[in-house]
Amino acid sequence: MVNGMDGAHEMVLCKVEPQCSIAEADDFERLSRLLDRPRVKIERKLSFDERSLSELSVTGNLRPVDSYDSMCSPGAGRSVLDTPVSLARSSFEPHPMVGEAWDALRRSIVFFRGQPVGTIAAIDHASEEVLNYDQVFVRDFVPSAMAFLMNGEPDIVKNFLLKTLHLQSWEKRIDRFKLGEGVMPASFKVNHDPVRKTDTLVADFGESTIGRVAPVDSGFWWIILLRAYTKSTGDLSLAETPECQKGMKLILSLCLSEGFDTFPTLLCADGCSMIDRRMGVYGYPIEIQALFFMALRCALAMLKPDVEGKEFMERILTRLNALGYHMRSYFWLDFQQLNDIYCYKTEEYSHTAVNKFNVIPDSIPDWIFDFMPTRGGYFVGNVSPAKMDFRWFALGNCIAILSSLATPEQSVAIMDLIEERWEELVGVMPLKISYPALEGDEWSIVTGCDPKNTRWSYHNGGSWPVLLWLLTAACIKTGRPQIARRAIELAESRLWKDGWPEYYDGKLGRYIGKQARKFQTWSIAGYLVSKMMLEDPSHLGMISLEEDKVKKPPIRRSASWTA
Ligand code: GLC
Repeated sequence: MVNGMDGAHEMVLCKVEPQCSIAEADDFERLSRLLDRPRVKIERKLSFDERSLSELSVTGNLRPVDSYDSMCSPGAGRSVLDTPVSLARSSFEPHPMVGEAWDALRRSIVFFRGQPVGTIAAIDHASEEVLNYDQVFVRDFVPSAMAFLMNGEPDIVKNFLLKTLHLQSWEKRIDRFKLGEGVMPASFKVNHDPVRKTDTLVADFGESTIGRVAPVDSGFWWIILLRAYTKSTGDLSLAETPECQKGMKLILSLCLSEGFDTFPTLLCADGCSMIDRRMGVYGYPIEIQALFFMALRCALAMLKPDVEGKEFMERILTRLNALGYHMRSYFWLDFQQLNDIYCYKTEEYSHTAVNKFNVIPDSIPDWIFDFMPTRGGYFVGNVSPAKMDFRWFALGNCIAILSSLATPEQSVAIMDLIEERWEELVGVMPLKISYPALEGDEWSIVTGCDPKNTRWSYHNGGSWPVLLWLLTAACIKTGRPQIARRAIELAESRLWKDGWPEYYDGKLGRYIGKQARKFQTWSIAGYLVSKMMLEDPSHLGMISLEEDKVKKPPIRRSASWTA
């Protein structure tokens, strides 16, 4: 049993058939093998990918040998100031924007004691107010990190991971209240003292943030990025350090703790993720649930199976199973499901209730009836008692595809929806962060009259170029690269000319956002990552997890599930 073999089990992994991908095995079966069954020793260094859901065939070879081969970056060890490898490698004439984007991305690099540690959110010299756009945001750095990894420059990513890990151990307070140990910062800033020639760090865990909300997404992105780094470099040693193992466990302790919850989803305050202002996304927002699911799967692949590690793995598996079921059953909406909800009875009591959350059909907004195509579907924004937020949110749906929270059928349906509702969701600038916009009284009540989030602006139905990289990744994963190409062409017609805005406004995304920063780093990096992924789809493996074959969704009525 678990305890009986601890001395040896660091070296001990499950029995595997040669050439058989571990991905084929069910998580539960895999864990029970780890915990209970006779073990066969194989190379210690395989431990990271041994538990990843698709990455390796176990052949005793350290290199990932899945369908997204050659994850060890060809240019590893390059300096952050070099010419992009992707330009040199390109078999066709690159778009002139690519070189410009690399220059701009490199200008955004932030150094701490001589080492590159991240990228600044925006370098907009024209903007009067800097606010906190001169900081390195954890979520904003992710596309930059992907660009550097894809270009064979992992050092900046490693430095970033270690620097933020160090910040995690700081004591965090808001007034007299102490935040949980594992909270990762929303952002940090490097202060250079030119006289004393010293660099110091200041971090923000929500105590300075507008609205004082802790960034729930930061810890999840950190875990996802650690896996991307490991996957891209083949360097397992970083993830296996006691510090990284501890960092992961602290994040997991925060989000796996038990309380009054009746659902496996994570209860959140408004503004705790990319949408970091009041926008009615409190409760169980799709963005957080999808990132939560993905981070759990990434952590599962990276935790070392020592006594404590195994306990976490068990908790992760239990949660993944419940979370996957809950999301696929209750957050999924397509034509059939909408019709079912429309006909729901209410006030049902007991276990036999069909309308479990007591959604009142009259609360279904009018727009959804026309918006919902016959072919297609998506994960709605939020589900909680008597409250279903029917809005579409791009990030959560793309991450659902990439993490395989969405079943293959659901992934196809999400892509179908994007195609069917191209004008609404993509328009002339990819991609709408949310759809549709809140207007009039609804806007005043839900946003608290936020002048930045007026209809079709910013988080309220604005179009965010950064989302292009996630769309592209989702397109590649679902075998629809032509959709990504179409979206990238749209971005190419405007982004550079407009000075890489943070977001666009309007129903179609035709107008540069009224308070949009220029030279917004993640708009730049997102474009580069999209280009590099299309050019070399093997990069997808860094941000994508294959479906876990056995965790099938429950059989439901909806057409797009069974099609
Ligand atoms: C805005 C965005 C947030 C982003 C930050 C820095 O606050 O809402 O998602 O991280 O700007 O770019």
